[in-house]
Amino acid sequence: MASTQEYAHPSDVDHNDPAFIWDPYPIYDALRRHDPVHHSAAYGGYYLITRFEDVRRALADWETFSSAELGVTSIPMSVKRDFPEIPLEVDPPEQRRYRALITPWFSRSRVDQLEEQVRTITRELLDAKAGETQIDFVQDLAVPLVGRGLAVFLNVPDEESRPWPGWLSDIFHGRMANRQRADEAGRKLIDYVDRKIAAAKERPGDDFFSMLATSDYKGRSLTDKEMRGFGVLTMTAGQETTVNGIGNSIWYLGSHPDQRDRLRRQPSLIPHAVEEILRFLSPIQLLGRSTTRDVTVSGTPIPQGSTVAVCYGAANRDETAFESPDECRLGRQHNNHIAFGYGPHTCIGAPLARLEMRVALAEVLRRVPDYELDTERIEMTPHGDLRGPWRLPATITR
Ligand code: HEM
Repeated sequence: MASTQEYAHPSDVDHNDPAFIWDPYPIYDALRRHDPVHHSAAYGGYYLITRFEDVRRALADWETFSSAELGVTSIPMSVKRDFPEIPLEVDPPEQRRYRALITPWFSRSRVDQLEEQVRTITRELLDAKAGETQIDFVQDLAVPLVGRGLAVFLNVPDEESRPWPGWLSDIFHGRMANRQRADEAGRKLIDYVDRKIAAAKERPGDDFFSMLATSDYKGRSLTDKEMRGFGVLTMTAGQETTVNGIGNSIWYLGSHPDQRDRLRRQPSLIPHAVEEILRFLSPIQLLGRSTTRDVTVSGTPIPQGSTVAVCYGAANRDETAFESPDECRLGRQHNNHIAFGYGPHTCIGAPLARLEMRVALAEVLRRVPDYELDTERIEMTPHGDLRGPWRLPATITR
C-alpha cells in the first residue's frame, strides 16, 4: 500500500508495516481526504486521527483523550511497568503540578547555556571521522551526540552515558523484534535511574536527580516511584526522537544538494530549516490515547475505551493548515507545526531538541560540506510511531 491510488482497504493501515514506515505520506493523504478517522483492525483495533484541527482538538481535550494509563502512548501497548512515566502518563490538573517541578530544568534559558558543550561533543564526533571518506550520520554522529548531550543536560558524568543509546535502541526497537532484549534494557535503565535517585537522596548534588530528590511536591518530597517515573521518561523521550530529527535533516539535505548549499550560504536560516524539517518529516508520527467516553470526530463515532492514535505526522501535512504542505520550504514563515505536540503534554524537551538539531546541522554543513548518501543502504527505524533513518551511510566528497 504505497500510493493514494492503491489505498482501498480501510482495515489494512498498520503504522508498523514496512511500506508505512518507509513513506506514510501518501497513506495519510488518502486518509485525511477520505477517511479522516480511520479504524484499523491491527493491534486489537485503533483509530487514527489525521486532520490537523482534529488532532489539535484531541490533544487539547485530555478529559476525553486521556494518556493516564501505563503504556497507552505506545501502540501496540508493550510495557511491563508498575509506575507511570511522569508527566506523560498523568492527566491535568495533576500533570500540570508535576510538570511545574521540572519546567525550570528544561527551560530554554537553562538549556541554551549548554550550547558550547553540545558543540564540543559534535566537533569531537566529526573530528573522529576526519580523513575518512565513509560516515554513517546516524550511528557515528546523531546517536552518540544525543546520548552525550543528555548527560550534559542531566549534568551527570559523560562516561555514564555510554551504554544509554544501546539500552534505548533495545527498548524502542525490541518492542517490535525482541521483547526479551527490550525488557532487559528496560531493567538496566530503571536500575540506573534508581541508583542515581538513591545517591541523590543520600548526598544531593547539582544533577537532575538531585533536583528531583530535593523537590517539594504539595508539601512533601517526591516518592521513589514518582522520581523513577520522571527519570525514566526524561531519559527515553529525548533520545530516539532527537536522533530521528538530526537523521531526517541530514537525509533531507543530502537528497537536496541545492537546499544544502543554500543553508550553507545562509546559516541564519538554520533555525527555520529545523522547524520545517520537523514539520515535513516529523520524528514522532503518532502516539496513543485512550477515550474516556463516547466521542465523534469528523463524523466518526469512537466508543469509550478505544485506543486512538493522534497522527502528528499526518496533521503536519494538512493543506488546511499549511500552504503547499508537501513542499519542504526551509525558509517557511508562520510554521505552526505540531511536531512537538499540542496541549498539556507539549514537548517540554523542545529547547534541547532544537539546540541539538541546530548545532548538528551547523557543524555538518561546516565540516562536511559535501556528501553523497548511499541511498541503497539507508535503513529506517523498525517501527512507524517514531520515524527516521537508523543507518544513514554516506561518502564524504569534500
Ligand atoms: C526532535 C525531538 C523531539 C520530538 C519530535 C519530541 C516530541 C514530543 C511530543 C510530540 C510530545 C507530546 C507527547 C504526547 O502528547 O503524548 C513530547 C512530550 C515530551 N517530551 Fe519530547 N520530543 C523531542 C525531544 C525531547 C527531548 C530532548 C526531551 C528530554 C530530554 C523530551 C522530553 C519530553 C517529555 C518529558 C514529554 C512529556 C511532557 C508532558 O507529558 O507534559 N523530548 N515530545
